[in-house]
Amino acid sequence: MTSITVIGGTGYTGSHIIREAAARGHQVTSLSRSLPAEQLPGVTYLAGSATDPDALRRAVTGADAVFAAISPRAGLGEDLLPLYADLADLAAASGARLGVVGGFSALRPAAGAPRFAEGDDVPPEFAEEARVMAAVVDYLIDEAPENLDWFYASPAASYGAYAPGTPTGTYRTGGDVALFDDDGESAISGPDFALALVDEVDKPRHHRTQFGVTS
Ligand SMILES: NC(=O)c1ccc[n+]([C@@H]2O[C@H](COP(=O)([O-])OP(=O)(O)OC[C@H]3O[C@@H](n4cnc5c(N)ncnc54)[C@H](OP(=O)(O)O)[C@@H]3O)[C@@H](O)[C@H]2O)c1
Repeated sequence: MTSITVIGGTGYTGSHIIREAAARGHQVTSLSRSLPAEQLPGVTYLAGSATDPDALRRAVTGADAVFAAISPRAGLGEDLLPLYADLADLAAASGARLGVVGGFSALRPAAGAPRFAEGDDVPPEFAEEARVMAAVVDYLIDEAPENLDWFYASPAASYGAYAPGTPTGTYRTGGDVALFDDDGESAISGPDFALALVDEVDKPRHHRTQFGVTS
């Protein structure tokens, strides 16, 4: 059994991670500012803000793996980057793996090309989120503590509460270059993305690197 903490465990991504991890028998803790109306049995739901150092430390202490699944959309905006830097320090100090849930726009259209977030094609309503989440992966690559075992997972382009998709029980992973299917589509359901993330905890394959997940 692995002890997994999900920061933002009640959100779209976080709740799917928690459901998958709990179903596998892991010891799961969620941190969010408000508690969900429906709670999964066996999961510890902590109420508190990740911006509160004591709440963050309590949530991370004792965890083998910590997922960061807050969205810049939740009001933090650019403050998400220093918050995730604090989380990286905490995880490194306690020897936990850190899995950051990132954005599709942090991927690249081709090897060595600028990230999508750096181009002009990101819809204006997603522009800040894309920029912040690209800055987070750049921070991890360039500045994360040397002893931190981190991974940064980017979902497909069509992913999120607005595009739930149909779970298939399968997924594909790539590096920092976006994967598309034969029809040029990039999509992943919430449960399938969670499958990939919890698989990464159970059988680590990505260390100090970014990867994309699509169907
Ligand atoms: N296609 C894409 O690229 C794509 C699409 C969707 C999401 N994403 C990425 O996936 C990640 C997660 O997004 P999401 O849509 O799953 O998130 P979400 O549904 O908005 O959930 C955010 C979670 O964070 C919690 N939260 C917010 N502020 C917090 C704070 N200060 N302290 C503690 N908890 C806090 C929320 O609960 P409370 O409000 O109760 O605190 C909630 O549990 C983000 O990085 C986002 O960019 C990418």
